[in-house]
Amino acid sequence: MKRLTTTLSAMALALGVCAQGHQFDINTSKVGAPVQPTMYGIFFEDINYAADGGLYGELVKNRSFEFPDHYMGWNIYGNIKLLNDGPFDKNPHYVRLGYSGHSDKFSGLENEGYFGIGYERDAEYRFSVWARVPEGGEANVRVMLCDPATMGERQQFAEQTVKVTSKEWKKYQVVLKANKTVNKGSLRLMLARNSAVVDLEHISLFPVDTWKGRENGMRKDLAQALADLHPGVFRFPGGCIVEGTDLDTRYQWKNSVGPVENRPLNENRWHYTFDYRFFPDYFQSYGLGFFEYFQLCEDFGSEALPVVSVGLSCEFQNGAEMSPAHVPLDQLQPYIDDVIDLIEFANGDPAKNKWAKLRADMGHPEAFGLKYVAIGNEQWGEIYPEHLQPFLDQVRKVHPEIKIIGTSGPDSEGKQFDYLWPEMKRMKADLVDEHFYRPESWFLAQGNRYDNYDRKGPKVFAGEYACHGRGKKWNHFEAALLEAAFMTGMERNADIVHMATYAPLFAHIEGWQWRPDMIWFDNLRSMRSCSYYVQQMFSLNKGSNVIPLTMNKKPVAGNADQDGLFASAVVEKATGEVIVKVVNTSDKAQEVTLNLKGLKAKNTYEGTLTSYSADNMDGENTLDQPTKYVPKTNSIKVEGNTYTTSVPAKTFYMFKIKK
Ligand code: AHR
Repeated sequence: MKRLTTTLSAMALALGVCAQGHQFDINTSKVGAPVQPTMYGIFFEDINYAADGGLYGELVKNRSFEFPDHYMGWNIYGNIKLLNDGPFDKNPHYVRLGYSGHSDKFSGLENEGYFGIGYERDAEYRFSVWARVPEGGEANVRVMLCDPATMGERQQFAEQTVKVTSKEWKKYQVVLKANKTVNKGSLRLMLARNSAVVDLEHISLFPVDTWKGRENGMRKDLAQALADLHPGVFRFPGGCIVEGTDLDTRYQWKNSVGPVENRPLNENRWHYTFDYRFFPDYFQSYGLGFFEYFQLCEDFGSEALPVVSVGLSCEFQNGAEMSPAHVPLDQLQPYIDDVIDLIEFANGDPAKNKWAKLRADMGHPEAFGLKYVAIGNEQWGEIYPEHLQPFLDQVRKVHPEIKIIGTSGPDSEGKQFDYLWPEMKRMKADLVDEHFYRPESWFLAQGNRYDNYDRKGPKVFAGEYACHGRGKKWNHFEAALLEAAFMTGMERNADIVHMATYAPLFAHIEGWQWRPDMIWFDNLRSMRSCSYYVQQMFSLNKGSNVIPLTMNKKPVAGNADQDGLFASAVVEKATGEVIVKVVNTSDKAQEVTLNLKGLKAKNTYEGTLTSYSADNMDGENTLDQPTKYVPKTNSIKVEGNTYTTSVPAKTFYMFKIKK
C-alpha cells in the first residue's frame, strides 16, 4: 500500500500536481436541479439617464414642452409663444412661431438634447414634428443639425426644410444626414423668411439606425449590449421609480402605452434624490413604455418581469406607517385593476379586452406571454403584507397562471428581512425579491448564502445587487470578481435561486446619480464594465443543470479555510458540455485539481479555459479604453478525468469540457 502511495505521489509530481492543491470533486454524471432559463437577467430602471437620454433613442429633450419649465432644454428666439390647447390632451402645450418684426431677425428654437446631441458622421437622423398653419398660408421651417461649438464657418452641418400648408395638425418628417461627428450638437429650427405663422408640437429627432430600425426605437449600441447578455429575465421599469415619491408620481404603466405623443410626462425622482448629483431636467417621457419593454423582452428572448405599485410610495421617503403617501386598504381597487389590466395588455385577446386591443393596435396582436408580475419594490413593515394580500387574492383568482413576486425589503438580512421572508412564505409568494448593495466583506462572506434556504418555500429572485467596493461605488475589477464569487453560490443553488439581476444597468457618464452601473455611455460611445463581463460569463454559460461539486470533500463556501476559492459546476445536457467556474479571490495563485467523475481516464477531452483577471484590482474599463479588461479564452486538453492547473491570484477561471 505504501509503495502504491509513493508511486502515485511521484506520478502526481511528474504531472505537476501539488499535494497542497485544492481538490474539486465534480460528478458530471449526476445531473442535478435545472438551472432556470430565467437565472441570469437584467434589471432596467430609468436612473442615471438610462431611458430618456440613454437607451430610448429620442435625441430631443422636452419634445412636447411639458416640463414644468416649458422651455427647459430649449433656447428660444424671435416671435415665439407657448400655447396649451394642442392636439394631444395629455400633453397640451405647443409653440407658435410668427414673424419676428424684422426681416433680418429669426424666430425659432434650438434644443440642447441630453448633455448635447451626439451626431455620427454619415448617419441619418429622422426629424418629425406635428404642425399646422393656424391662419392658413405656407410656412417653411428650416431644420438644422448644428455644432454650436464649431470653429468652422457654419454651425449647421445638415439642413432640410419642412413645408407646412395645412390648417389641421399633421405629422411631418424629414431625414437629415450628418457630414461630421459631433458629441455635443444641437437641433435648431428657424422659421424661414416670408413664412406664415406656424404651430409646432412633439418635436422629435431619432437616429434612423435604431435597434431593429424601429421609429420610436432604442439606441442601437446600448440595446445590443443587452442582447449580448442573452438575459433570461428582464425586470422593468424600476425600482424606486415604480413606487414614486408620492402616489401621483408612481410609475403608471397605462400612461406609458398608446401613441407616444399622448403619453403624459412624469417626474423622475432621481433628479432630486441626491443633492450632490442634482439634475433638474430629468423627467420620464414614457417614450420607452410598457409596449417597448415587452418588445425588447421578445427581442432578447427574456421573460418579462414588470414591477407594479402595491399602493405604497417610497418608504425611504415616507416611512412604513400609514400616511397620505400610501393608499388606504379600502381604496386599493384601482391599483389591483391596473395589475389585472396589465396582464390583459400583455396576454389578452384583442377581441375581448380593450387593453389587449390597444396592444394589437400598437402592432402586436399576438400575446407577449407574460408569466411574472412583481408587486411592490422595496416595501417593508406590516403595511406591505396587508397591502399585498388583496392583490394576491384577486390576481390569483382571475390569472392563476401568473407567478407573483413579493419583496423581502431593502436589506440583505436583518429585522425587516427576517420578518418579510416568513410573511412571503405564509402568503405563498412564488418568488421573493432580495436586494443587496454591499461591500467586499459581505460578498466574501456569502458564498454559501443559499445552501440552507428552505426548499419548500418561495424561490429566490436576487433582484438588485452589486458589490459597492471600498466605499468607491465604481466598477473596478475587484468588485466584479467578488460578484463572480457570490454568483457561484447562486448557481450551485439553482434549485432555489431562479433569477438574478445586477443593478443598476445603465449610466450616462455626465448624468449618473448612482454607481456602480453595468454599462456606461456618453452621447456616442458605450462601455461594458467588468461587472458586465462577469454577468455575461455566467449568463452565456449557465448550462441546463447543476452538477454536484465539493472542495476538499466539503461544501464550497469560500471561507478562510478554503483559501478564498469559490466554485460551481453545471452541465449543458444538449451538448454534453461540463462547465466549472472557479473564482480565486485570494492574493496568491492556487493550484486546483478538477476530479471529473464520469469522464473516462483513458480519453482526451477538448475544452476551453476562459480567464478573467486584471493587472490592477482598481482597474476598470472606460469609454476611452472600453475593452481594457475582457475575458480571454484558450483551448485546453483534458487528459483523462482530472485536470490540474494554477488559478492565478484574483482571477475568475471558467472551464468548459466537452464530455
Ligand atoms: O437600483 C437603484 C435603486 O436601489 C432602486 O431603484 C431601488 O429598488 C434600490 O433601492
